[in-house]
Amino acid sequence: MSVKIVVGSQWGDEAKAKIVDYLASEADYVVRFQGGANAGHTVIVDGKEYIFHLIPSGIMYPDKICVIGNGVVLDPTALMDEISELQKQGIEVEGRLFISQKAHLVMPYHKLLDQAHEHSKGNKSIGTTGRGIGPAYRDKAARVGIRIVDLLNRSVFTEKLESNIQAANEMLTKIYGYEPLDVNEVIDAYLEFDRKIDPFVKDITTLLNDAILDGKNILFEGAQGALLDIDHGTYPYVTSSNTTAGAACIGTGIGPTHVNEVIGVMKAYTTRVGNGPFPTEFDDEFATQIRDIGGEYGATTGRPRRCGWFDGVIGHYSAMINGLSSLAISKLDVLDTLPEVKICIAYRHEGRLLKHFPVDSDVLDGIEPVYETHPGWQEPTKHIRSYSDLPLNARAYLERISEITRTPIKFVSVGSDREQTIRL
Ligand code: IMO
Ligand code: MG
Repeated sequence: MSVKIVVGSQWGDEAKAKIVDYLASEADYVVRFQGGANAGHTVIVDGKEYIFHLIPSGIMYPDKICVIGNGVVLDPTALMDEISELQKQGIEVEGRLFISQKAHLVMPYHKLLDQAHEHSKGNKSIGTTGRGIGPAYRDKAARVGIRIVDLLNRSVFTEKLESNIQAANEMLTKIYGYEPLDVNEVIDAYLEFDRKIDPFVKDITTLLNDAILDGKNILFEGAQGALLDIDHGTYPYVTSSNTTAGAACIGTGIGPTHVNEVIGVMKAYTTRVGNGPFPTEFDDEFATQIRDIGGEYGATTGRPRRCGWFDGVIGHYSAMINGLSSLAISKLDVLDTLPEVKICIAYRHEGRLLKHFPVDSDVLDGIEPVYETHPGWQEPTKHIRSYSDLPLNARAYLERISEITRTPIKFVSVGSDREQTIRL
Protein backbone atom coordinates (compact mmCIF):
# COMPACT_ATOMS: atom_id res chain seq x y z
CA MET A 1 0.00 0.00 0.00
CA SER A 2 1.23 3.47 -0.77
CA VAL A 3 -0.42 6.85 -0.68
CA LYS A 4 1.55 9.46 -2.60
CA ILE A 5 0.74 13.11 -3.17
CA VAL A 6 2.15 15.02 -6.12
CA VAL A 7 1.95 18.80 -5.69
CA GLY A 8 3.08 21.82 -7.67
CA SER A 9 5.72 23.70 -5.71
CA GLN A 10 5.94 27.02 -7.54
CA TRP A 11 3.14 28.98 -9.27
CA GLY A 12 1.57 26.09 -11.17
CA ASP A 13 2.50 24.62 -14.56
CA GLU A 14 5.44 22.69 -13.10
CA ALA A 15 4.68 19.66 -15.32
CA LYS A 16 2.86 17.87 -12.51
CA ALA A 17 0.83 15.84 -15.00
CA LYS A 18 3.95 14.41 -16.60
CA ILE A 19 5.13 13.13 -13.17
CA VAL A 20 1.62 11.92 -12.31
CA ASP A 21 1.44 10.08 -15.64
CA TYR A 22 4.84 8.51 -14.95
CA LEU A 23 3.86 7.39 -11.43
CA ALA A 24 0.34 6.36 -12.42
CA SER A 25 1.72 3.17 -13.94
CA GLU A 26 2.35 2.02 -10.34
CA ALA A 27 -0.96 3.28 -8.90
CA ASP A 28 -4.46 1.82 -8.67
CA TYR A 29 -6.23 5.14 -8.10
CA VAL A 30 -5.38 8.63 -9.39
CA VAL A 31 -7.19 11.38 -7.53
CA ARG A 32 -7.79 15.13 -8.04
CA PHE A 33 -8.57 16.83 -4.74
CA GLN A 34 -8.81 20.60 -5.33
CA GLY A 35 -9.05 23.29 -7.99
CA GLY A 36 -11.19 22.88 -11.07
CA ALA A 37 -11.00 23.48 -14.80
CA ASN A 38 -8.45 26.25 -14.15
CA ALA A 39 -5.87 23.44 -14.25
CA GLY A 40 -4.31 22.50 -17.57
CA HIS A 41 -2.54 19.16 -17.23
CA THR A 42 -0.64 18.03 -20.29
CA VAL A 43 0.30 14.40 -20.86
CA ILE A 44 2.20 13.26 -23.92
CA VAL A 45 1.92 9.60 -24.88
CA ASP A 46 3.55 8.28 -28.04
CA GLY A 47 4.07 11.82 -29.26
CA LYS A 48 0.37 12.68 -28.88
CA GLU A 49 -0.68 15.50 -26.55
CA TYR A 50 -3.66 15.25 -24.18
CA ILE A 51 -4.72 18.19 -21.99
CA PHE A 52 -6.83 17.52 -18.90
CA HIS A 53 -8.61 20.16 -16.85
CA LEU A 54 -10.78 18.12 -14.49
CA ILE A 55 -10.16 14.46 -15.24
CA PRO A 56 -7.12 12.99 -13.44
CA SER A 57 -4.10 12.46 -15.69
CA GLY A 58 -4.12 8.71 -14.88
CA ILE A 59 -7.06 8.20 -17.26
CA MET A 60 -4.64 7.34 -20.07
CA TYR A 61 -4.04 3.93 -18.45
CA PRO A 62 -7.13 1.79 -19.11
CA ASP A 63 -6.85 -0.12 -15.81
CA LYS A 64 -6.68 2.88 -13.45
CA ILE A 65 -9.55 4.23 -11.41
CA CYS A 66 -9.76 8.02 -11.54
CA VAL A 67 -11.42 10.05 -8.83
CA ILE A 68 -12.57 13.66 -8.55
CA GLY A 69 -12.72 14.52 -4.87
CA ASN A 70 -15.03 16.77 -2.87
CA GLY A 71 -12.40 19.53 -2.81
CA VAL A 72 -12.71 20.07 -6.56
CA VAL A 73 -15.16 22.62 -7.98
CA LEU A 74 -16.67 20.92 -10.98
CA ASP A 75 -17.99 22.60 -14.11
CA PRO A 76 -20.38 20.01 -15.62
CA THR A 77 -20.04 21.42 -19.15
CA ALA A 78 -16.23 21.30 -18.97
CA LEU A 79 -16.38 17.74 -17.62
CA MET A 80 -18.71 16.54 -20.38
CA ASP A 81 -16.53 18.18 -23.05
CA GLU A 82 -13.51 16.39 -21.66
CA ILE A 83 -15.31 13.04 -21.49
CA SER A 84 -16.54 13.28 -25.08
CA GLU A 85 -13.10 14.38 -26.28
CA LEU A 86 -11.62 11.24 -24.68
CA GLN A 87 -14.37 9.06 -26.15
CA LYS A 88 -13.50 10.42 -29.60
CA GLN A 89 -9.95 9.17 -29.04
CA GLY A 90 -11.32 5.76 -28.08
CA ILE A 91 -10.76 6.21 -24.32
CA GLU A 92 -13.78 5.06 -22.30
CA VAL A 93 -14.21 6.53 -18.81
CA GLU A 94 -17.47 5.00 -17.60
CA GLY A 95 -16.94 2.52 -14.78
CA ARG A 96 -13.55 3.97 -13.84
CA LEU A 97 -14.18 7.68 -13.31
CA PHE A 98 -15.86 8.57 -10.03
CA ILE A 99 -16.95 11.96 -8.73
CA SER A 100 -17.66 12.88 -5.14
CA GLN A 101 -21.26 13.64 -4.24
CA LYS A 102 -19.86 16.42 -2.07
CA ALA A 103 -18.05 18.31 -4.84
CA HIS A 104 -19.44 21.77 -5.59
CA LEU A 105 -20.59 22.83 -9.03
CA VAL A 106 -19.23 25.68 -11.11
CA MET A 107 -22.22 27.30 -12.82
CA PRO A 108 -22.43 29.84 -15.68
CA TYR A 109 -22.91 32.73 -13.24
CA HIS A 110 -19.65 31.83 -11.48
CA LYS A 111 -17.77 32.19 -14.75
CA LEU A 112 -19.53 35.46 -15.58
CA LEU A 113 -18.87 36.88 -12.11
CA ASP A 114 -15.21 35.82 -12.33
CA GLN A 115 -14.80 37.58 -15.68
CA ALA A 116 -16.84 40.65 -14.67
CA HIS A 117 -14.86 41.11 -11.46
CA GLU A 118 -11.53 40.74 -13.24
CA HIS A 119 -12.63 43.22 -15.90
CA SER A 120 -13.67 45.74 -13.26
CA LYS A 121 -10.25 45.58 -11.59
CA GLY A 122 -8.39 46.72 -14.72
CA ASN A 123 -4.62 46.59 -14.20
CA LYS A 124 -5.15 45.45 -10.59
CA SER A 125 -6.78 42.20 -11.74
CA ILE A 126 -5.48 38.82 -10.54
CA GLY A 127 -5.32 37.47 -14.07
CA THR A 128 -7.55 34.47 -13.31
CA THR A 129 -8.30 31.77 -15.84
CA GLY A 130 -11.92 33.01 -16.00
CA ARG A 131 -13.20 29.53 -15.15
CA GLY A 132 -15.42 30.68 -12.26
CA ILE A 133 -13.15 29.19 -9.60
CA GLY A 134 -13.18 32.09 -7.10
CA PRO A 135 -16.96 32.65 -7.16
CA ALA A 136 -17.64 28.88 -6.87
CA TYR A 137 -15.43 28.52 -3.78
CA ARG A 138 -16.98 31.73 -2.40
CA ASP A 139 -20.46 30.16 -2.62
CA LYS A 140 -19.11 27.03 -0.96
CA ALA A 141 -17.68 29.03 1.95
CA ALA A 142 -20.86 31.13 2.16
CA ARG A 143 -22.83 27.86 2.41
CA VAL A 144 -25.00 28.56 -0.61
CA GLY A 145 -23.11 26.36 -3.08
CA ILE A 146 -24.77 23.65 -5.14
CA ARG A 147 -23.24 20.19 -4.81
CA ILE A 148 -23.26 17.19 -7.11
CA VAL A 149 -25.74 15.51 -4.75
CA ASP A 150 -28.12 18.44 -5.31
CA LEU A 151 -27.82 18.10 -9.06
CA LEU A 152 -29.30 14.62 -8.73
CA ASN A 153 -32.37 15.92 -6.90
CA ARG A 154 -34.48 17.99 -9.29
CA SER A 155 -36.57 19.95 -6.81
CA VAL A 156 -33.63 20.81 -4.56
CA PHE A 157 -31.51 21.68 -7.59
CA THR A 158 -34.05 24.06 -9.19
CA GLU A 159 -34.80 25.75 -5.90
CA LYS A 160 -31.14 26.41 -5.10
CA LEU A 161 -30.34 27.37 -8.67
CA GLU A 162 -33.18 29.88 -8.84
CA SER A 163 -32.11 31.56 -5.65
CA ASN A 164 -28.42 31.64 -6.67
CA ILE A 165 -29.14 33.01 -10.13
CA GLN A 166 -31.24 35.77 -8.60
CA ALA A 167 -28.38 36.70 -6.25
CA ALA A 168 -25.86 36.53 -9.11
CA ASN A 169 -28.08 38.70 -11.31
CA GLU A 170 -28.17 41.37 -8.62
CA MET A 171 -24.38 41.52 -8.72
CA LEU A 172 -24.07 41.19 -12.47
CA THR A 173 -26.53 44.01 -13.22
CA LYS A 174 -26.00 46.37 -10.28
CA ILE A 175 -22.27 46.12 -9.68
CA TYR A 176 -20.87 45.21 -13.08
CA GLY A 177 -23.52 46.56 -15.48
CA TYR A 178 -23.91 43.17 -17.19
CA GLU A 179 -27.10 41.69 -18.64
CA PRO A 180 -28.92 39.35 -16.22
CA LEU A 181 -29.01 35.60 -16.85
CA ASP A 182 -32.36 34.04 -17.77
CA VAL A 183 -33.23 31.77 -14.84
CA ASN A 184 -35.28 29.31 -16.90
CA GLU A 185 -32.68 29.05 -19.63
CA VAL A 186 -29.99 28.06 -17.13
CA ILE A 187 -32.29 25.59 -15.37
CA ASP A 188 -33.25 24.01 -18.70
CA ALA A 189 -29.64 23.76 -19.81
CA TYR A 190 -28.47 22.12 -16.58
CA LEU A 191 -31.36 19.77 -15.78
CA GLU A 192 -30.08 17.25 -18.32
CA PHE A 193 -26.77 16.98 -16.44
CA ASP A 194 -28.33 14.82 -13.71
CA ARG A 195 -28.71 11.97 -16.21
CA LYS A 196 -25.26 12.57 -17.70
CA ILE A 197 -23.35 12.79 -14.42
CA ASP A 198 -25.27 10.15 -12.49
CA PRO A 199 -23.17 7.16 -13.70
CA PHE A 200 -20.02 8.75 -12.28
CA VAL A 201 -21.27 9.85 -8.86
CA LYS A 202 -20.02 7.88 -5.88
CA ASP A 203 -19.17 8.07 -2.21
CA ILE A 204 -15.48 8.48 -3.02
CA THR A 205 -14.54 9.00 0.65
CA THR A 206 -15.56 5.43 1.41
CA LEU A 207 -14.16 4.19 -1.91
CA LEU A 208 -10.69 5.56 -1.13
CA ASN A 209 -10.64 4.55 2.52
CA ASP A 210 -11.67 1.01 1.55
CA ALA A 211 -8.96 0.99 -1.11
CA ILE A 212 -6.39 1.95 1.53
CA LEU A 213 -7.60 -0.89 3.76
CA ASP A 214 -7.26 -3.23 0.77
CA GLY A 215 -3.62 -2.21 0.36
CA LYS A 216 -4.11 -0.36 -2.93
CA ASN A 217 -1.79 2.33 -4.27
CA ILE A 218 -3.26 5.80 -4.36
CA LEU A 219 -1.77 8.74 -6.19
CA PHE A 220 -3.03 12.25 -5.52
CA GLU A 221 -2.68 14.76 -8.33
CA GLY A 222 -2.42 18.36 -7.15
CA ALA A 223 -3.42 21.29 -9.32
CA GLN A 224 -1.86 24.79 -9.34
CA GLY A 225 1.12 25.25 -7.01
CA ALA A 226 2.17 26.16 -3.46
CA LEU A 227 2.55 29.88 -4.17
CA LEU A 228 -1.02 29.97 -5.50
CA ASP A 229 -2.37 28.44 -2.25
CA ILE A 230 -5.13 30.62 -0.78
CA ASP A 231 -3.49 30.57 2.68
CA HIS A 232 0.22 30.20 1.99
CA GLY A 233 0.58 31.78 -1.45
CA THR A 234 1.16 35.33 -2.64
CA TYR A 235 -2.30 36.48 -1.53
CA PRO A 236 -4.37 38.01 -3.10
CA TYR A 237 -2.62 36.83 -6.28
CA VAL A 238 -3.57 33.22 -5.67
CA THR A 239 -6.27 30.75 -6.60
CA SER A 240 -9.21 30.11 -4.27
CA SER A 241 -8.28 26.66 -2.97
CA ASN A 242 -5.56 25.16 -0.81
CA THR A 243 -3.08 23.72 -3.26
CA THR A 244 -0.65 22.27 -0.73
CA ALA A 245 -0.37 18.62 0.31
CA GLY A 246 -2.72 18.87 3.30
CA ALA A 247 -5.56 19.57 0.89
CA ALA A 248 -5.37 15.99 -0.41
CA CYS A 249 -6.82 14.80 2.91
CA ILE A 250 -9.48 17.51 3.16
CA GLY A 251 -10.39 17.25 -0.51
CA THR A 252 -11.21 13.54 -0.31
CA GLY A 253 -11.77 12.58 3.32
CA ILE A 254 -8.77 10.39 4.03
CA GLY A 255 -6.80 10.94 7.22
CA PRO A 256 -3.25 12.36 7.20
CA THR A 257 -1.88 9.24 8.91
CA HIS A 258 -2.36 7.35 5.63
CA VAL A 259 -0.01 9.50 3.55
CA ASN A 260 3.43 7.96 2.89
CA GLU A 261 5.04 10.36 0.47
CA VAL A 262 4.76 13.91 -0.84
CA ILE A 263 6.51 14.68 -4.12
CA GLY A 264 6.97 18.32 -5.02
CA VAL A 265 7.31 19.20 -8.69
CA MET A 266 9.50 22.20 -9.48
CA LYS A 267 10.72 23.47 -12.80
CA ALA A 268 14.49 23.94 -13.14
CA TYR A 269 13.56 27.63 -13.48
CA THR A 270 10.35 29.45 -12.55
CA THR A 271 7.22 30.52 -14.39
CA ARG A 272 4.06 32.30 -13.45
CA VAL A 273 0.94 33.07 -15.44
CA GLY A 274 -1.33 35.86 -14.27
CA ASN A 275 -0.40 38.86 -12.15
CA GLY A 276 1.34 39.18 -8.79
CA PRO A 277 4.84 39.25 -7.34
CA PHE A 278 7.61 37.27 -9.05
CA PRO A 279 11.01 38.13 -7.51
CA THR A 280 13.25 36.27 -9.98
CA GLU A 281 11.45 37.33 -13.16
CA PHE A 282 13.62 37.75 -16.30
CA ASP A 283 13.68 40.90 -18.38
CA ASP A 284 11.46 40.80 -21.49
CA GLU A 285 14.15 39.76 -23.94
CA PHE A 286 15.46 36.81 -21.91
CA ALA A 287 11.91 35.80 -20.94
CA THR A 288 11.02 35.59 -24.63
CA GLN A 289 14.04 33.37 -25.29
CA ILE A 290 13.23 30.92 -22.47
CA ARG A 291 9.49 31.01 -23.25
CA ASP A 292 10.22 29.92 -26.79
CA ILE A 293 12.59 27.12 -25.80
CA GLY A 294 10.32 25.90 -23.00
CA GLY A 295 7.00 26.34 -24.85
CA GLU A 296 5.80 28.45 -21.94
CA TYR A 297 2.21 29.17 -22.93
CA GLY A 298 -0.76 28.35 -20.68
CA ALA A 299 -2.46 24.99 -21.37
CA THR A 300 -5.82 26.39 -20.26
CA THR A 301 -5.80 29.98 -21.53
CA GLY A 302 -2.90 30.04 -24.03
CA ARG A 303 -1.42 33.08 -22.25
CA PRO A 304 2.36 33.54 -22.47
CA ARG A 305 3.90 32.59 -19.13
CA ARG A 306 6.23 34.93 -17.26
CA CYS A 307 9.65 33.30 -16.79
CA GLY A 308 12.46 33.68 -14.23
CA TRP A 309 15.40 31.99 -12.47
CA PHE A 310 14.97 29.16 -9.99
CA ASP A 311 13.93 30.70 -6.69
CA GLY A 312 15.46 28.76 -3.79
CA VAL A 313 13.61 30.84 -1.19
CA ILE A 314 10.34 29.67 -2.68
CA GLY A 315 11.70 26.15 -3.09
CA HIS A 316 12.60 25.96 0.58
CA TYR A 317 9.29 27.51 1.67
CA SER A 318 7.35 25.12 -0.51
CA ALA A 319 9.24 22.10 0.83
CA MET A 320 8.33 23.26 4.34
CA ILE A 321 4.61 23.94 3.88
CA ASN A 322 4.09 20.71 1.91
CA GLY A 323 6.36 18.51 4.03
CA LEU A 324 7.99 17.35 0.80
CA SER A 325 9.71 13.99 0.97
CA SER A 326 11.24 14.36 -2.49
CA LEU A 327 11.49 16.60 -5.52
CA ALA A 328 10.79 16.08 -9.19
CA ILE A 329 12.73 18.67 -11.18
CA SER A 330 11.19 19.26 -14.58
CA LYS A 331 12.32 20.92 -17.81
CA LEU A 332 16.04 20.75 -17.05
CA ASP A 333 16.67 20.51 -20.82
CA VAL A 334 15.25 24.02 -21.34
CA LEU A 335 18.45 25.39 -19.74
CA ASP A 336 20.78 23.24 -21.88
CA THR A 337 22.13 26.06 -24.05
CA LEU A 338 22.76 28.69 -21.37
CA PRO A 339 26.38 29.67 -20.60
CA GLU A 340 25.40 30.32 -16.98
CA VAL A 341 22.42 29.65 -14.72
CA LYS A 342 21.36 31.47 -11.57
CA ILE A 343 19.69 30.39 -8.37
CA CYS A 344 18.10 32.89 -6.00
CA ILE A 345 19.34 31.93 -2.53
CA ALA A 346 17.92 34.80 -0.44
CA TYR A 347 15.86 37.99 -0.56
CA ARG A 348 17.19 41.38 0.48
CA HIS A 349 14.75 44.04 1.65
CA GLU A 350 15.87 47.58 2.51
CA GLY A 351 19.44 46.35 2.92
CA ARG A 352 18.58 43.42 5.22
CA LEU A 353 18.48 39.74 4.34
CA LEU A 354 15.08 38.21 5.02
CA LYS A 355 15.01 34.97 7.00
CA HIS A 356 11.62 33.76 5.79
CA PHE A 357 9.34 34.02 2.80
CA PRO A 358 7.61 37.41 3.30
CA VAL A 359 3.86 37.65 3.82
CA ASP A 360 3.43 41.38 3.21
CA SER A 361 2.89 42.03 -0.49
CA ASP A 362 4.60 45.43 -0.22
CA VAL A 363 7.73 43.68 1.09
CA LEU A 364 7.52 41.07 -1.64
CA ASP A 365 7.22 43.80 -4.27
CA GLY A 366 10.24 45.62 -2.85
CA ILE A 367 12.66 42.72 -2.37
CA GLU A 368 15.84 42.18 -4.31
CA PRO A 369 16.82 38.58 -5.08
CA VAL A 370 20.34 37.49 -4.10
CA TYR A 371 21.75 35.22 -6.79
CA GLU A 372 24.35 32.53 -6.98
CA THR A 373 25.71 32.02 -10.49
CA HIS A 374 26.57 28.54 -11.73
CA PRO A 375 28.31 27.60 -14.97
CA GLY A 376 25.92 26.17 -17.56
CA TRP A 377 26.42 22.69 -19.06
CA GLN A 378 25.85 23.65 -22.69
CA GLU A 379 25.18 20.08 -23.77
CA PRO A 380 21.92 18.46 -24.79
CA THR A 381 20.25 16.40 -22.03
CA LYS A 382 16.98 15.32 -23.69
CA HIS A 383 18.34 11.88 -24.57
CA ILE A 384 19.79 11.15 -21.10
CA ARG A 385 18.04 8.50 -19.01
CA SER A 386 20.36 8.02 -16.05
CA TYR A 387 21.48 10.58 -13.50
CA SER A 388 25.17 9.74 -13.74
CA ASP A 389 25.08 10.50 -17.49
CA LEU A 390 24.00 14.10 -16.90
CA PRO A 391 26.73 16.70 -17.48
CA LEU A 392 28.71 17.50 -14.34
CA ASN A 393 27.49 21.11 -14.23
CA ALA A 394 23.88 20.00 -14.54
CA ARG A 395 24.33 17.63 -11.62
CA ALA A 396 26.00 20.37 -9.57
CA TYR A 397 23.03 22.66 -10.31
CA LEU A 398 20.53 19.99 -9.25
CA GLU A 399 22.49 19.12 -6.14
CA ARG A 400 22.49 22.79 -5.12
CA ILE A 401 18.70 22.90 -5.54
CA SER A 402 18.40 19.82 -3.37
CA GLU A 403 20.66 21.39 -0.74
CA ILE A 404 18.74 24.68 -0.63
CA THR A 405 15.36 22.99 -0.43
CA ARG A 406 16.74 20.35 1.97
CA THR A 407 14.91 17.75 -0.09
CA PRO A 408 16.29 14.84 -2.09
CA ILE A 409 15.65 14.79 -5.83
CA LYS A 410 13.91 11.63 -7.01
CA PHE A 411 13.02 12.51 -10.59
CA VAL A 412 14.51 14.73 -13.27
CA SER A 413 12.55 15.39 -16.42
CA VAL A 414 14.43 16.24 -19.62
CA GLY A 415 11.54 16.43 -22.07
CA SER A 416 7.78 16.16 -22.29
CA ASP A 417 7.60 12.49 -23.25
CA ARG A 418 7.03 9.74 -20.66
CA GLU A 419 10.42 8.21 -21.51
CA GLN A 420 12.30 11.46 -20.96
CA THR A 421 12.39 10.88 -17.22
CA ILE A 422 15.37 10.10 -15.00
CA ARG A 423 14.58 8.26 -11.78
CA LEU A 424 17.16 8.50 -9.04
P1 IMO B 1 -2.08 23.92 -13.24
O1 IMO B 1 -2.79 22.87 -12.42
C1 IMO B 1 -0.80 28.05 -13.44
C2 IMO B 1 -3.47 31.07 -11.71
C3 IMO B 1 -4.11 32.07 -12.64
C4 IMO B 1 -4.18 33.28 -11.73
C5 IMO B 1 -4.53 32.65 -10.37
C6 IMO B 1 -6.00 32.65 -10.04
O2 IMO B 1 -2.14 23.71 -14.69
O3 IMO B 1 -0.70 24.14 -12.71
P2 IMO B 1 -8.05 31.17 -10.88
O4 IMO B 1 -8.63 30.96 -12.26
O5 IMO B 1 -7.58 29.91 -10.25
O6 IMO B 1 -8.94 31.95 -9.98
O7 IMO B 1 -6.76 32.10 -11.13
O8 IMO B 1 -4.07 31.32 -10.44
N1 IMO B 1 -3.70 29.65 -12.04
C7 IMO B 1 -2.76 28.84 -12.56
N2 IMO B 1 -1.49 29.10 -12.98
N3 IMO B 1 -1.27 26.80 -13.50
C8 IMO B 1 -2.52 26.51 -13.07
O9 IMO B 1 -2.96 25.25 -12.97
C9 IMO B 1 -3.35 27.56 -12.62
N4 IMO B 1 -4.61 27.64 -12.17
C10 IMO B 1 -4.81 28.92 -11.80
O10 IMO B 1 -3.30 32.31 -13.76
O11 IMO B 1 -2.92 33.88 -11.60
MG1 MG C 1 -1.07 24.27 -16.24
